[in-house]
Amino acid sequence: MAPAARWSPPLLLLLLAATTATATTTTAEHKHRSDSDPPPSPTPWPERFHAVLFTNLTNYSDASTGPPLRITDLYYDWPWRRNLNLVRHQLSPDPLYDVEWNNRTTFYFDSSACRVEQFPVGVLPPWWLSGGGAEYLGRRAAGGIDCHVWGKAGFIFYYE
Ligand SMILES: *[C@@H]1O[C@H](CO)[C@@H](O)[C@H](O)[C@H]1NC(C)=O
Ligand SMILES: *[C@@H]1O[C@H](CO)[C@@H](O)[C@H](O)[C@H]1NC(C)=O
Ligand SMILES: *[C@@H]1O[C@H](CO)[C@@H](O)[C@H](O)[C@H]1NC(C)=O
Repeated sequence: MAPAARWSPPLLLLLLAATTATATTTTAEHKHRSDSDPPPSPTPWPERFHAVLFTNLTNYSDASTGPPLRITDLYYDWPWRRNLNLVRHQLSPDPLYDVEWNNRTTFYFDSSACRVEQFPVGVLPPWWLSGGGAEYLGRRAAGGIDCHVWGKAGFIFYYE
């Protein structure tokens, strides 16, 4: 298997992180909303955070994308305009480093291979969702937690 094929674009992991990073938003706020209230705004991300992501891509992967279960340590660092995803695939002792810089360069490496890629965007700013263009989609439960949900760009679904 070509290692390149199993590496996901950085945006995907950041979006998956969103659920973890903002899961602590109070539920008290939810209880006091009524239908006439204006839609809530997404909370900007903290300038720095660490999130641990569990990703299950069973329904979205095949042999070319590698093992579907992953644990990722995400280190988001907006002041330094950088982001690290440290990806551990199931049963693999060799983690994949995904180091993203604001100049749109991303380095992927493990102990045996490395690859450089240019993306059309740099590191997402903390206000990437709250800054506009997001549509409030209402509330939905995710993993037993009552969440606000926003959509953006037709393919992003963000649970807070
Ligand atoms: C991963 O997702 C598949 C398909 O939804 C499910 O059958 C499986 O139990 C999940 N595994 C884990 C560890 O969550
Ligand atoms: C994964 O696919 C199976 C079979 O199509 C389906 O039953 C299951 O609900 C899906 N799981 C998720 C989490 O989408
Ligand atoms: C982007 O920044 C990183 C970190 O400073 C650097 O290693 C890389 O060469 C830069 N990429 C380009 C295309 O200048």
